[in-house]
Amino acid sequence: MKGMVVMANNVNRVALIGTGLVGSSYAFALLNQGVTEELVLIDLNKEKSEGDAMDLNHGLAFAPNPTKIWFGSYDDCASADIVVLCAGANQKPGETRLDLVAKNLKIFKTIVTDVMNSGFNGIFIVATNPVDILSYAVWKYSGLPQNRVIGSGTILDTARFRYLLGEHFDVDTRNVHAYIIGEHGDTELPVWSHADIGGIPILESFNGEIDKLDEIFVNVRDAAYDIINRKGATYYGIAMGLVRLTKAILNNENSILTVSSYLDGEYGANNVYIGVPAIVNREGIKRVIELNLNEEEKNKFQHSVTVLKETMSPFFQ
Ligand code: 2OP
Repeated sequence: MKGMVVMANNVNRVALIGTGLVGSSYAFALLNQGVTEELVLIDLNKEKSEGDAMDLNHGLAFAPNPTKIWFGSYDDCASADIVVLCAGANQKPGETRLDLVAKNLKIFKTIVTDVMNSGFNGIFIVATNPVDILSYAVWKYSGLPQNRVIGSGTILDTARFRYLLGEHFDVDTRNVHAYIIGEHGDTELPVWSHADIGGIPILESFNGEIDKLDEIFVNVRDAAYDIINRKGATYYGIAMGLVRLTKAILNNENSILTVSSYLDGEYGANNVYIGVPAIVNREGIKRVIELNLNEEEKNKFQHSVTVLKETMSPFFQ
């Protein structure tokens, strides 16, 4: 079922829940890009979030346009267009994203219930890991239509992939068209069959330099571990990906982004949220793009679906 967003307010309001490293980096990036008229910060740690609101407001004189920022409560979600969920535990060195499932599902049940009790009727963006399973949970807990719950999915993995391919081929990242799909995690996969630079398929040897492609993908897949081992967490890249997604929604862009979307038969899968290219606009997910995958890609995608379903099955009977 498609659900239209009811605009309760005539200005754009984003409510951010969870002002840890990812949430506060998102707030900073949102302000710097002048994306929304109102930004409300919500967190259990009142002192920290009040401090963040003050700090961000002190940058307003240097921002591209005015943004009203305050530390608020769940009641402020009532007229939010988007609620962005960044709350919950993050990976420690040695942990996988899937290891976080039980504790973050518990936290999300409470948060989503509180948001919905406010009368919220907009779009959820989910960033917390394991993002695909938590997106499914938000859809279940909220009762909103599937198109209005969007996970960050493989938006960041795709950005990492485009960056590394751009570096390898010495081309602007923005001219590299290539997707990472599947779980935002260890079973994700590159879609080499549809990867191109300037219209030239990468597998047809853009510049003849295809020897390092597997290594590039491994570096994408393991990027979060590599960063967490060095500085304990990742936040700038995902924050910018979340801002990109916020803009696509608020500006009704119809942009194609690899987000965690509900599949209802697409890619031969159903009843699962997983990273795939999708058209994003003011409705949320307007449509999933179904790529014509080759056999190897199909098998890997199916494996990713199976791993997600097996991990979440004890929690959703
Ligand atoms: C990332 O990929 C940890 O999911 C986070 O950076």
